[in-house]
Amino acid sequence: MERTFLMVKPDGVQRGLIGEIMRRLERKGFQLAAAKLMMVSKELAELHYAEHKGKDFYEPLVEFITSGPVFAMVWEGDQVIALSRILMGKTNCLEAIPGTIRGDYASHTRFNLIHGSDSPESAAREIANFFRPEEFVTYNRDIQKWI
Ligand code: PPS
Repeated sequence: MERTFLMVKPDGVQRGLIGEIMRRLERKGFQLAAAKLMMVSKELAELHYAEHKGKDFYEPLVEFITSGPVFAMVWEGDQVIALSRILMGKTNCLEAIPGTIRGDYASHTRFNLIHGSDSPESAAREIANFFRPEEFVTYNRDIQKWI
């Protein structure tokens, strides 16, 4: 079972889209393993986006991600890394197709609502940057028991 790090960015939190984004991930069949509303420090932002240091969008991106609360999450599921990125849609708002989170709600490339790990290596690194082991909850879902 794969794990990925997903984060509703400050624009998504401010716009009240946490629930909508989580709804899509739940309905796809993924399982939430950890989640928290938090501020990202400048230090954590620079660690998280280290590979982009020097690019023209780096400084505005760090400023944006530290500008307000984010909703950090770890989701589990078969191929969750690749599949959640399909649900997210393309980074560039002009390329994000309707039906995806960004295609439906983002109209700016910087303010693109959600971050998702792009590989198993990134997922492992990003999860460790944002979560401590004791913040994870392991459980079995038995939907039939409740309906
Ligand atoms: S790259 O260069 O292809 O690796 O970059 P990319 O993966 O497309 O994007 C890396 C993160 O930078 C954000 N980004 C931008 N922010 C602001 N302005 C512009 N023009 C811009 N272009 C890319 C993009 O949303 C990615 O952030 P995350 O949080 O990883 O989605």
